Amino acid sequence: MASPALALDGADPSFAELLAVRPALSLHAHDGLLLEGVPLQRIAAAVGSPTWVYSATTLRRRYQALAGALKGAGLNAEIHYAVKANTNRAVLAVLAAEGAGADIVSEGELRAARQAGIPAGHIVFSGVGKSERELRLALAEDIQQINAESAEEIAMISALASSLGRTARVAIRVNPDVDAGTHAKITTGKSDNKFGVAFDDALALYAHMATLPGIEPVGIATHIGSQITNGMAAYRAAYARLAELVRAIRARGLPIQRIDCGGGLGIPYRDEPAPAPEALAGAIKATLGDLGLPVMLEPGRWIVGPAGVLLASIVIQKRGATRRFLVTDAAMNDLVRPAMYDAWHGILPVAPAAFGGALSLADVVGPVCETGDTFARDRALPDLPPGELVAFLDAGAYGAVMSSTYNLRPLAAEVMVEGERFAVVRDRQSYEAMLGQGRLPPWLGGVS
Ligand code: LLP
Repeated sequence: MASPALALDGADPSFAELLAVRPALSLHAHDGLLLEGVPLQRIAAAVGSPTWVYSATTLRRRYQALAGALKGAGLNAEIHYAVKANTNRAVLAVLAAEGAGADIVSEGELRAARQAGIPAGHIVFSGVGKSERELRLALAEDIQQINAESAEEIAMISALASSLGRTARVAIRVNPDVDAGTHAKITTGKSDNKFGVAFDDALALYAHMATLPGIEPVGIATHIGSQITNGMAAYRAAYARLAELVRAIRARGLPIQRIDCGGGLGIPYRDEPAPAPEALAGAIKATLGDLGLPVMLEPGRWIVGPAGVLLASIVIQKRGATRRFLVTDAAMNDLVRPAMYDAWHGILPVAPAAFGGALSLADVVGPVCETGDTFARDRALPDLPPGELVAFLDAGAYGAVMSSTYNLRPLAAEVMVEGERFAVVRDRQSYEAMLGQGRLPPWLGGVS
């Protein structure tokens, strides 16, 4: 997947350039913007907006491309999809049917993965603060592996597993102290980040773990950050350290069964280079290949990001003192990435006529009462009167899952398309559901 050559002038990609590198999206003279074979106008007419729309074919293709690249490099690799990126039940079911395992970080994600049919023996539990309740459930389900992030957590797992008469298969998540060169809020592998065990402590902790009841040490893990698009150097540096650690573990005569390489492979939102899964497979092969151990990967964004769009309507087009504002019915409570990480998402009109319209700069904003509720500034877009639809691109990862009901805006509906079919795969939250959990205390007339 080549990205358009835009770096020189810094201009945003044109509509045609955005479409050219997103094979599931196409423009039809009568039906406007399509995801797979389904006009987005049809979905909006049936389901309303804002609505998340996912392409099942894209999910499958990307999963298969990654699996193929790993296999092509001669790696014995398991893919554990990072459920946090998109927890929709249908998305999980599509990936489960492809054979994906799951990387989970909470009881909710464990339940969702199991509900989607991912076997417990294919589930890895990551996270810096697993609660006792969550660990109990993981042990009761006998999941494949727990990635422990501290000596304290290892002690807790040992005590819990022993008291339950279980053996926990534990890997140590190592913080390799490399800079993945990504946004500060999503970098995880530097020594001052909260994640993992310091590299220098990992060997002693691994050896200690082998002496504890209720624990079987099975491997080491790392995850250096997310949206990595600047080449493989950071991955190589991190994996080289893991290889060093594996050799040291073996030199101590300790057993090790596998290496978890984490996730993080980025996608082009604007004009970033598109890292190829073959490059990641090559980096793993080059650094870890001669150890003869199976590897695991925990990709989230790379698989689901490009598979989704957020469909929204223009509520009003307003001329401010100095700028044109397009106010959509989607807001930062739906897609928070621009507000939280200054993320750039492509925005396409949906109606065929809008594609031919004269372009002028506009800020695309939501109706929430914060200036941070801005999706894009100075974006070249046509005149878009109220009711016109737009699609925010690459919204399949860290989109719906990060939504809130801020400003008492219900969670948006989710739809899956495949070929010419579409189906609602999560209902729009009703006002009853959103408001119904509030209670009055007895002294204000509530029922105790
Ligand atoms: N494994 C672990 C332990 C993780 O913490 C993460 C993501 C992944 C795997 C999957 O990473 P991916 O392949 O998706 O990069 N909300 C942010 C991204 C947060 C990533 C958190 N951890 C965003 O919208 O950019």
